[in-house]
Amino acid sequence: MQIGGGGAEAVESALKLCKIAKRNDPKKTKILSTLGAFHGKTAGAVSLGGKDTWWAYQGRLLLDQVTHIKFNDVEALKKELSSGIYQGFIMEPIQGEGGVNVSTDEFIKTAREYCTKYDTIFVADEIQTGCCRTGKFWACEWWDVIPDVMTFAKGISGGIIPLAGIIAKPEIYDAAYGSPETAFHHTATYQGNAYACAAGIASIQFMLENDLPAKARENGKFIMDAMNAAWKKYPGIIKDVRGKGCLIGVEFENVPADKKEKYGDFWSQPCEAYFSNEFRIQIMHSFNNPKVFRWLPPLTATKEDLEYALDAFAKSVEYVYELSKS
Ligand SMILES: Cc1ncc(COP(=O)(O)O)c(C=O)c1O
Repeated sequence: MQIGGGGAEAVESALKLCKIAKRNDPKKTKILSTLGAFHGKTAGAVSLGGKDTWWAYQGRLLLDQVTHIKFNDVEALKKELSSGIYQGFIMEPIQGEGGVNVSTDEFIKTAREYCTKYDTIFVADEIQTGCCRTGKFWACEWWDVIPDVMTFAKGISGGIIPLAGIIAKPEIYDAAYGSPETAFHHTATYQGNAYACAAGIASIQFMLENDLPAKARENGKFIMDAMNAAWKKYPGIIKDVRGKGCLIGVEFENVPADKKEKYGDFWSQPCEAYFSNEFRIQIMHSFNNPKVFRWLPPLTATKEDLEYALDAFAKSVEYVYELSKS
């Protein structure tokens, strides 16, 4: 395990681990990732991410060493991994920033199978999906998939104290850092910070003692049922509501051309604005996919909190529906 500060730093750890662990195999020169992915904004993490907006102004970053395939494209995944050139493959089990795109069973299971077959390190980025958010402690549990390396951050310390890191299979960790030549290749002053780790241990205890995975499943179902009942009353505004547990994405329709100047490209934009201005509820704009906004309620939210937010959601969709008719 390697512990650092923010999520991007954890992704850097995973990236360097893949490169250093495979340093003696000249055929392995690249990292595979997915379009739409978000892995953080440091130079390495942003290169792994699958959105060109974040690649600007910094030359080629590490982009020459990264291939991006479409998320859930099993054929592309098989083709790339079977080339044998990849040190690692990184994916989010559910793309968060990318618009709450849930991996298909086939995609994530093929990733596991082909990474083993072609000696590629399988990295699951659980920074957003981990720590009970999707209704399991780790989202990979939904598929019974065990990655070789996993990143974590955010919920591991209740989102308050900066704490992030990776967990790696011992043989992979040792292949990277288990020699005097490389042992000090990824160290930093604040790694393993004791205060942050104490906060992490307390959060893990809280999550387990209060069975937050079950709470996320129960609340997630409550939210999705209510949302589905609400938006279907207002055709033309919302296309889909999806997710797992309390990681929920709401995908909006395009604004017709004659209304774009006033309301933006997608109905998500006036809806987000109304929601936060009128009801003071913060929802997550998805920069990598602005037609989707995300609901990530605190896992400790009460039924009353959720009812307030769902009522606000229904009123916001109704408001946007009226705009679309005006
Ligand atoms: C999947 C994923 N990876 C990495 C990161 C980067 O984490 P941080 O913002 O702590 O650097 C995020 C942040 O949203 C994320 O969702």
